[in-house]
Amino acid sequence: MSTVLVDLMQNDSASNGDCVNNGDCDSDYDFSKLGDKPKHLNMERQRSFDERSLVEASPGHTPWAENGQRHMDLDNLFSPSRRSSFNTPRSICGFEPHPMFAEAWESLRKTMVYFRGQPVGTIAALDNSDEKLNYDQVFVRDFVPSALAFLMNGEPEIVKNFLLKTLRLQSWEKKIDRFQLGEGVMPASFKVLHDPVRNTETLMADFGESAIGRVAPVDSGFWWIILLRAYTKSTGDTSLAEMPDCQKGMRLILALCLSEGFDTFPTLLCADGCSMIDRRMGVYGYPIEIQALFFMALRCALVLIKQDAQGKELVERIVKRLHALSFHMRSYFWLDLKQLNDIYRYKTEEYSHTAVNKFNVIPDSLPEWVFDFMPTYGGYFIGNVGPSNMDFRWFCLGNCIAILSSLATLEQSMAIMDLIESRWEELVGDMPVKVCYPAIEGHDWKIITGCDPKNTRWSYHNGGSWPVLLWLLTAACIKVGRPQIARRAIEVAELRLAKDGWPEYYDGKSGRYVGKQARKHQTWSIAGYLVAKMMLEDPSHLGMIALEEDKQMKSIVKRSSSWTF
Ligand code: GLC
Repeated sequence: MSTVLVDLMQNDSASNGDCVNNGDCDSDYDFSKLGDKPKHLNMERQRSFDERSLVEASPGHTPWAENGQRHMDLDNLFSPSRRSSFNTPRSICGFEPHPMFAEAWESLRKTMVYFRGQPVGTIAALDNSDEKLNYDQVFVRDFVPSALAFLMNGEPEIVKNFLLKTLRLQSWEKKIDRFQLGEGVMPASFKVLHDPVRNTETLMADFGESAIGRVAPVDSGFWWIILLRAYTKSTGDTSLAEMPDCQKGMRLILALCLSEGFDTFPTLLCADGCSMIDRRMGVYGYPIEIQALFFMALRCALVLIKQDAQGKELVERIVKRLHALSFHMRSYFWLDLKQLNDIYRYKTEEYSHTAVNKFNVIPDSLPEWVFDFMPTYGGYFIGNVGPSNMDFRWFCLGNCIAILSSLATLEQSMAIMDLIESRWEELVGDMPVKVCYPAIEGHDWKIITGCDPKNTRWSYHNGGSWPVLLWLLTAACIKVGRPQIARRAIEVAELRLAKDGWPEYYDGKSGRYVGKQARKHQTWSIAGYLVAKMMLEDPSHLGMIALEEDKQMKSIVKRSSSWTF
């Protein structure tokens, strides 16, 4: 393998806990833009015994940062040899695993899809009671928690096969009617077709050409890169990422999102429904979910791309984009009480560089609910920012990925957790976690969703509660050193999830009802629970899905100028 790749893999999770405090992490960042730092964020918190014991009992335990800020040091967090195995029901806390845990593993195994004798993924849902639609396919985004569960359990084979098979699919010629899609597009899902007569198996993929609404799976390529890093980090096997085909696959994905155009922002312009929320839901433009995944995929690519002739230029472009993107997101997507108050008092129609209200947001467009929702301490990345447009909705996935990728500064990560704790009833309630908050109702629902009967208020993508998000919440909680929040959420889920047959989503303001059209035995609900449990038991697993603050990015900029090829 190339020395640079080894080098980067080792530096990949360099701890940088003091970066935010002294503010000199990157001179490009103006942290004052983030608003006054609520004082409590820098105060040492009282750690409960529960919390302390979990972190400290982890095999990769690192003492708390001297400045009192709590974070997981990802540097020491993961070693490929450490595994927790569900076959050996061991618990660092000394508790017996919940009976749901073994049941979940059994169910997950039943969802495995084989292609010519090899496991290549997991089916979206094993629900025979309903119309299948495309739930009998392997979705790229749905497979991520399954993949993490297998990696955590020391079973990387299925993940490797999945990465290789989807890579093959990427190279297909993709067309919708007469329009040819970009070379780098990864499928939303695929399926194994059996021909009983010829006794053959072939793969069939969907790049959006069959999907309801013909939505584009922008997130698939990002998840693919993120998963490739998780596999590499977890197994220590760099040979997969080094394969010329994998390198090419990454380059093609990146070519799609780093291409020059008419953009005035570093964020990625998207059509509606291009990620987990794959229906019209007013998430077009610059949705937080895609921006956070974009950021994380860029950071993962940075440690995976080989420094050959093609790689050098790409790395430079990635680094530049990461800087611009983190500045933009941290400055303009961030909302806390101070920022909200500033927007409330914004002047409009400002011209030139001196404008404060850069996007010409009209204060009258501030929704009523946001004033109550915003806690005194806390904050979050809002759903979307564009010209005269701020979507103030809170989205779970984007905020958790922002924490995991260190798109959020340590202070922002803490503030997101503060908000989740303050708005527990709204965001977790009776089933974790709301995909977004709040729901769109009445006239807005008509206009924004196109009268979608599946996305009525507090249902499905429109304020529904999705158990799969539990793994993301748990990972984010562990990263900021507040695993007790995750534990509380898991306990809520354990009251019903298995009894209700692992539904895809729950409906209602606090998630009390099994979703109107929710599939049962939804695989990512099962896998999400398993990953959350395994990470809580052994926080060292976090290393495969989290990245520290971007000290390494700075050193890469410096180093890249002295690399020889
Ligand atoms: C729904 C979800 C999507 C998921 C798919 C398969 O379409 O919105 O995110 O990938 O089901 O579970």
